Amino acid sequence: MRHLMSPLDLSVEELDQLMDLANDIEKNPAKYAHACDGKRLATLFYEPSTRTRLSFEAAMMNLGGTVLGFSSADSSSASKGESVSDTIRVVSCFADICAMRHPKEGAPMVASMVSSIPVINAGDGGHQHPTQTLTDLLTIRSLKGRMDHLTIGLCGDLKFGRTVHSLINALVRYTGIKFILISPEELRVPDYIRDDVLRANQVPFEEVIKLEDALPSLDLLYMTRVQKERFFNEEDYVRMKDFYILDKAKMELAGPDMLVLHPLPRVNEIAVEVDQDPRAAYFKQVQYGVYARMALILTLLGIEVK
Ligand code: NCD
Repeated sequence: MRHLMSPLDLSVEELDQLMDLANDIEKNPAKYAHACDGKRLATLFYEPSTRTRLSFEAAMMNLGGTVLGFSSADSSSASKGESVSDTIRVVSCFADICAMRHPKEGAPMVASMVSSIPVINAGDGGHQHPTQTLTDLLTIRSLKGRMDHLTIGLCGDLKFGRTVHSLINALVRYTGIKFILISPEELRVPDYIRDDVLRANQVPFEEVIKLEDALPSLDLLYMTRVQKERFFNEEDYVRMKDFYILDKAKMELAGPDMLVLHPLPRVNEIAVEVDQDPRAAYFKQVQYGVYARMALILTLLGIEVK
């Protein structure tokens, strides 16, 4: 039985297969409409979510399966003091696969150690968010036509942004990737990403503060929200929250093929006027997220559709 805790749980070949499957699902949805008949997905969300939870649920329903779960810790027995290990043992009796989001780093990993069904990490604290990465990779591959030889700008909260950590982890395995890390001093990527992932894999990267300096050289700009819920005090958040605002004027500094991605939710970091720009891909990215999760569910359940 396989779980998905980090994008590195899938080899590059497996990732390619998963993306081929996702693209086939996109082209032939009817072929997959009953692939998960009789199967059930549990969504255990101890932290708020719109996209990820609904995307998982839509993915399972598109495959003919059913879903059950909870969308906040308050509405689960966690509020009575139940451990994630006990919860997952119980849920294993009700479902065939589960997606878990938790504010504590490592909680889905703890669950996977005692689970008798596949567990998918749907975001653990400021750590990892592998299914957002599958979404991001599928978006990049589908819209750019390649995963290699890209200069990628990651902008915003690179310290607490788990989507950024997972994406860097996954992308360092492709050739010709260069990162420009754009953040205020206080929100730079954690040392373990800089040293153990980027430097250890000899991946070229630069760290800059001004978005304007990076824009002209990027193939892809990945914007992120300042992660309010991970700040220790409100004052620091307020000081940081509008540090970057991508607007029409800034988009003029970028090349004609630069894609703008964002895991969403957006707060102020992308002005709504940018939504009309053909380079804005963040809503398409949401749709790719459903195909990516459908492909993942099929893969982890070992279901092959002929
Ligand atoms: C991201 C997350 O939860 O980390 N959202 C998502 O799943 N699409 C990004 C964020 O909350 O800023």
